[in-house]
Amino acid sequence: MKEINIRRSVRQFSDKKVDESVMFEILKAAMQAPSAMNQQPWEFILIQDKNKIEELSNLSLHAKFSKNAAFMIAILAKKDLKAPGFVQQDLGACTQNLMLEAVSYGIGSTWMGVYSKEDRSEFLINALNIDSEKVEPFALIALGYPNKEDLIKYVDRFDESRIHREMY
Ligand SMILES: Cc1cc2nc3c(=O)[nH]c(=O)nc-3n(C[C@H](O)[C@H](O)[C@H](O)COP(=O)(O)O)c2cc1C
Repeated sequence: MKEINIRRSVRQFSDKKVDESVMFEILKAAMQAPSAMNQQPWEFILIQDKNKIEELSNLSLHAKFSKNAAFMIAILAKKDLKAPGFVQQDLGACTQNLMLEAVSYGIGSTWMGVYSKEDRSEFLINALNIDSEKVEPFALIALGYPNKEDLIKYVDRFDESRIHREMY
């Protein structure tokens, strides 16, 4: 699948606006992910306000680049689940779907880790008025069209030594 091979973390964004219909296609892909017992433990916050994006770029030192993102998506994990032990795997699949769908529209993104960093989680709960009785922050994704052509490109990571046959 082309998108898997050319997806890269994009941290430099152009000013080009992203249609909200495209944002919804990206969220739709996120919700198509597999999940344990089909528990679909995700909720999302779509952030387009420039001031809020700038505020959220203070999530950590590794998030500063994101102040120029066209939009952000906070991915939240629902609490009170049928299979709570699998929630991180469910949300990993959901996040990957979201980023790959973005690539299919030429949109770059970077995953900013939140779970299991308590300070980052607290920061998002306050900044986004998250009801922490119901959901907890999992990740914050910065998205937008890249400001250079070669930011979305294939990097070969295939390493045959990682593959074992029949037994370890
Ligand atoms: C759980 C997780 C947390 C990450 N957190 C950050 C982050 O806080 N800031 C950042 O710039 N990149 C972050 N990244 C992106 C990685 O640095 C990036 O995926 C990795 O270097 C591989 O590069 P690629 O995405 O271009 O293939 C994170 C990725 C994952 C999966």
